Amino acid sequence: MKKAGNRGSEPADEERRRENLLQQFRRSYGRDAQFVTRAPGRVNLLGEHTDYNGLPVLPMAIDRNTLIAGAARRDLQVNVKNLDSSFAPRSFELAKSIPAFAAGDWGNYTKAAAQGLALHAGKTLRHGADLLVDGNIPHGAGLSSSSALVVATALALLAANERHESPETLAEILPGAERYVGTLSGGMDHAISLLAEAGHALRIDFFPLRTRPVPLPSGYDIIVCHSLVQAEKSAAAKRHYNHRVIECRLACRLLDVALGTGLPRDLTMLGDLATLFPGRSLSEFVAYLSPWLPDRPLSLAEIATYIGAPVDALQVQCQVPPGLSDAFAVVRRARHVLTEAERVGQAEEALGAGDAGAFASLMDASHASCRDDYEISCREIEDLIRASKDGGALGARLTGAGFGGCTVSLVDRSRTAEFLKHVDRHFYAQRLADERHIEQYRFVFRPRGGATSQRLEAITS
Ligand code: GLA
Repeated sequence: MKKAGNRGSEPADEERRRENLLQQFRRSYGRDAQFVTRAPGRVNLLGEHTDYNGLPVLPMAIDRNTLIAGAARRDLQVNVKNLDSSFAPRSFELAKSIPAFAAGDWGNYTKAAAQGLALHAGKTLRHGADLLVDGNIPHGAGLSSSSALVVATALALLAANERHESPETLAEILPGAERYVGTLSGGMDHAISLLAEAGHALRIDFFPLRTRPVPLPSGYDIIVCHSLVQAEKSAAAKRHYNHRVIECRLACRLLDVALGTGLPRDLTMLGDLATLFPGRSLSEFVAYLSPWLPDRPLSLAEIATYIGAPVDALQVQCQVPPGLSDAFAVVRRARHVLTEAERVGQAEEALGAGDAGAFASLMDASHASCRDDYEISCREIEDLIRASKDGGALGARLTGAGFGGCTVSLVDRSRTAEFLKHVDRHFYAQRLADERHIEQYRFVFRPRGGATSQRLEAITS
């Protein structure tokens, strides 16, 4: 993790980073950059693991981002270097189908962007690019450093080809591109990075993509604290994440049977319940599962018996990848997703009414649901939540995919200093050998605007 400070980066820091990046670009590639793109990370305030179920989320973009300086090439080669020397330079060629680097390689996120653009409307790009990356979003923290890299790269490749795609279009195509890295993730991270509005959180709905700015309560800080447990999307967390996605698909198959003739068509995702039964509360549908099925993990064979279908057919229908453990906690997972979606609606109302207390209670309820029903918390996150609540957070929850990463707390601004002191003493001081490093792990974030692409000089092809 880089950069100290418990604030996100200020505009002056960003200007300095940009100037340095342009200078380093010249040094590294022996010519001037032609464009600079910038894509922010995000913190999700509410609505966890709802996006891939077609249900809403409530994130905001943060003042940490990925910057890319670049220049077009005459051939199809893409060269990517990173100011952080722990990321070795990578090169690849633009093509209709781009083979991935080894699993876990950072370069796959840049390839994902190129692949997504190549697949979009069947067009391949005609110019490669020399690119230099500078990111200050902590990695493996659940703050979407990887999606910011995908977004900034996509904007850079478009700039090199003098092509434009609307942020809405990119927000639709890039999540699919990131699946090329092996995570079955939803569309939240790219959408907020591209479409964020400064000073606001954003309610995002999917399929089709819709956004609505939501005000944040005045006089409160959004504070993000790292649990010191890395939750890399490309490592073990990926397996746990994909397992949850499959559990939701299996819950749909079970609901098809449980709802029987009352269902106009089979569910493609849990969010279809909102479209098919407008006006009914989503949490009501949990009752179709819970008295029928035991509230414990079921094997695929057991689920197939409940559904009355052969196991292999179910495996194919739900695209169950090989290597997942044969234990699917469908009732709990459905309960989390359906109640969480309702909480997003309630949070939007609470924030619209300026009711910080009601919003904070929804954050707490979301955390309990993530911990008990979605089972994505861990001991360190629980210790951090306890320290945060004891330190005066009005509401606190884990944020992002879980399995480590960060928490987000809502804190009365007049109590922020006291809160940080408490968390430092009761969480970080016990875990970090050198207390001088504490400031690298917790941040007071302000909501920022979405990704940008700036042309510095005409591109002659
Ligand atoms: C990751 C994914 C998102 C979303 C969150 C959990 O960040 O990339 O699509 O599913 O986890 O809410």
